[in-house]
Order: sequence, then C-alpha cells, then structure tokens
Amino acid sequence: MSSTTMAEDDKDVQKCFEVALELVYKAGNIILERKNSRKSFVCKEGDIDLVTETDKQVEKLLMNGLKAQFKSHKFIGEEESAGGVTARLTDAPTWIIDPVDGTMNFVHGFPHSCISIALVINQVTEIGIVYNPMLNQKFTAIRGEGAFYNDKLINVSGEKDPKKALVTSEFGTTRDPEKLKVVIENFNKMAALVHGIRSLGSAALNMVMVAMGAADVNYEFGIHAWDVAAGDLIVREAGGVTIDPAGGEFDMMSRRVIAASSMELAQEIAKNLTQFYPQPRDD
Ligand code: IPD
Repeated sequence: MSSTTMAEDDKDVQKCFEVALELVYKAGNIILERKNSRKSFVCKEGDIDLVTETDKQVEKLLMNGLKAQFKSHKFIGEEESAGGVTARLTDAPTWIIDPVDGTMNFVHGFPHSCISIALVINQVTEIGIVYNPMLNQKFTAIRGEGAFYNDKLINVSGEKDPKKALVTSEFGTTRDPEKLKVVIENFNKMAALVHGIRSLGSAALNMVMVAMGAADVNYEFGIHAWDVAAGDLIVREAGGVTIDPAGGEFDMMSRRVIAASSMELAQEIAKNLTQFYPQPRDD
C-alpha cells in the first residue's frame, strides 16, 4: 500500500467504525466470560477507583488491534493514563478508550458496565461506541448519521421540564471530602427539583440512557474523557445536548459534564448545581 493510500485509509471513518466494532465484540467476550465471578482489583490513587486484570487486557486488545490497522492513530486510554502516560488530545486521529466503564459494578458482578470507545479527528468526535456485553446493549454513532441502540435509531425524550425529568449522576471514584460534600449537596438539590434520580455506576451508560430517552439528564463532576467521549457523540446524534455544568460549552478534557434531552433542561439543571472543578484536568 502506498503511503498516500495508507493515510487516506487511516481517516476513512466507516472503515474505522467497522474495525473498532469488531474489536469491541471480541473485547466484550473477555468481559462476558468473567461476568459472574468476583474479581480481584487494585485501587488507583488510594480512592475507590478500581482496576482489574480485565480492564488492562481489554484496553490492550483494543489498542493493539487498532494500532495494527491504523498506524498513524494515537490513543488516550484509561489504564495507560493511570500508568503515567499523559492524555493529550491533538489534531491527530485519536481513540479515547475506557476498557471497562463501571469497574466497581464489574468487580461485584452487577451487570452494568461497558466498553466505551470514541474516535476524535481534528478535535471533532467522529465515532462513539458504548457496549455492555452482559445485557447485549450496543449504542453507536457516527457523526452526522444518527445514534443507534442495537442497530435501531434512537432519540432523546425532548423533555424540557426539570420536574418531569429522570436524572442520573454518580458519587464518583474519589473519597475527597470536598468533592463528596458537593456531590451530596447536588443530590439534595436534585431530589427536591426533579422527577427522580438514579445512580447506577457507569458514566458512559448514564449518557446513553439520555440518548435513548430512558433518562433525561446526566451530570457528573470528576469524570474523565474516556468516560464521556463516546456518550457525548451518541447523545448529540440522538438530538440531545452536552454542555459544561456551569452552562458553557462542553469540554471533554474538563472532567465536567451535563448531557440532556434539551438545551432548556440542561441550562435549568446547570443553574441549580453547586459547581466543582476537578484537578488535574485531563490535558
Ligand atoms: C467510573 C464510572 C463511575 C463514575 C466515575 C467513572 P470507571 O469509570 O463511570 O460511575 O462515577 O466518574 O470514572 O473507573 O469504572 O471506568
């Protein structure tokens, strides 16, 4: 293959999607084989941010498979970043990978975890895939082509009224008292404001619940780019919005997100949240 053809091939979004999806299915089988057993884990940063052998194996399978096909592509992976590799997003085609989002659930055998993988080219997200092999839930999007749940087109609910909104959020993976104070304060505020609040342990699955109209809002402080990169595109392709929790533009590296079924709802939730700015950022 000539170098020009190779470069063109590396930016063929449809081909990238097909290769990634096949690898995601393979990686899903690794997760599936171990779904019912309690797993041993290590704790990152002394908090409750867990990592299992499966997280590492899945990330390796995905990265090696993608590297073999797309030589020029870069990677931002949760486990690689935890190992000290800096998460820098450049204009180069970059895969942003969470091998097991919801590792705590996976460790306990609670069947609500997923692989989350996104492809960003020139800082624009082109592909998002979120796959929970335990419940056979596959969420996909290619920019400009809509969002899909198990190959069926999905849409957000379109809800605008906080009183009628089902909201998802998480306690997160740090026990930092400052952060926990804000989390509890926000749960209290939301409990008084919205229809209902759910916390199921996977940021990526929270996002895609908004995309399919099963939830109306997801917000969280402390997430990482790999938790939300795929979900962000899937939500927007389903007709929803992602913004910064203070009301401005969503920044994937800021570790802050609101995803919602409408801009009105997103801004109303933003107005009511106590803000938190996790440090360090992802870049
Ligand atoms: C975590 C989960 C959790 C969320 C954290 C994430 P991980 O991802 O999505 O629900 O609260 O912010 O970091 O560590 O299981 O991949």
